[in-house]
Amino acid sequence: MGSRKEIEDRLTVGAQVIDAEGRVVTPGFVDAHTHLVFAANRADEFEMRCSGITYQEIARQGGGILSTVRRTRAATEGDLLATAQKHASWFLRAGTTTIEAKSGYGLSVDAEMKILRVVQQAGKTTPLRCVPTFLGAHEVPEEFLGQTSAYVELVIEEMLPLVASHQLASFCDVFCEPHIFDQPAAGRILQAARRWGFGLRIHADQFSCSGGALLAATLGTATADHLEHTDATSIKALAAAAVQPVLLPGSVYSIGSRRYPDARAMIDAGLAVVLATDFNPGSSPIASMPVVLSLACTQMKMTPAETLTAATINPAWSLNLGGQVGSLECGKYADFVVHEASDYREIPYFLGTQRPTMVFAQGERIG
Ligand code: NIG
Ligand code: FE
Repeated sequence: MGSRKEIEDRLTVGAQVIDAEGRVVTPGFVDAHTHLVFAANRADEFEMRCSGITYQEIARQGGGILSTVRRTRAATEGDLLATAQKHASWFLRAGTTTIEAKSGYGLSVDAEMKILRVVQQAGKTTPLRCVPTFLGAHEVPEEFLGQTSAYVELVIEEMLPLVASHQLASFCDVFCEPHIFDQPAAGRILQAARRWGFGLRIHADQFSCSGGALLAATLGTATADHLEHTDATSIKALAAAAVQPVLLPGSVYSIGSRRYPDARAMIDAGLAVVLATDFNPGSSPIASMPVVLSLACTQMKMTPAETLTAATINPAWSLNLGGQVGSLECGKYADFVVHEASDYREIPYFLGTQRPTMVFAQGERIG
């Protein structure tokens, strides 16, 4: 790193020179909230939402997460891996070189383990770095309908120990909402996960301000994600506990809501805001960080510079990878993107057309 002169003086014989021809070069994007592994898609529900039925109504009718769970359980590990590899190519093509990838469409011991093995294989067989998160508490499965506490027991007593002993996840996440896993249930799971050595993340306050962010602050989780309905008191608590907010404007946009999280209040409170895609077949079929950056600028009034920080170094720290990725510095992986732009503001500005000219992961050109 340095000026042209400094670098040219240090070039060794045979060094590879990449001429970016005046284009903008950034670190590879770090997408700290994705649901990478799932079978099929939900374009049918997308069409239903276009005719006015809400995301939550579809879930109440047995669609939503549970419809993906049925198909993910039925899929073979090989089929899931092939689909995950296709999704990985979408991330890489848009300039993302590191993702966090959650399980959560299995909701049984075997199916959750199957998904986490696929995450591991996706990371090994593609240039995309994948940080695995166990999200066994993503929804209550059909066979536990009306018996949420029995399912919470299964997660705590069987799934967490097994995932920990196979070292298949770095983090544990819970979908905290009153009608899914309420604050006490989410708290029990996350505390058990901490005892097994997992880092903690939480889906909080997506549909109501229901104590999810407060729980994150009490536990001192690494991140609190979504936060569309988080109030001022909870934002203060997040700041006091240094919990990183992960904001997901792509899911707000895709479910047709207008309720974006209050990014400005979070930045003013001193929080290290993270932007992520929330890539999943329901609420956010978006794998492109430039699209998310654009939404963050226009809908949440973040500046282009703030969005770049929130898409690179801030998420890297949220994944405990701040020393390895997220900025262009000597000693870190050479994950970088040459953008089709001469000014970084063009990245969120030219919505939908942003395609990197070149993508490098660990020094290898991969796109
Ligand atoms: O982060 N809120 C829960 N989970 C996902 C949606 C998953 C789905 O609809 O399949 C989310 O938005
Ligand atoms: Fe999510």
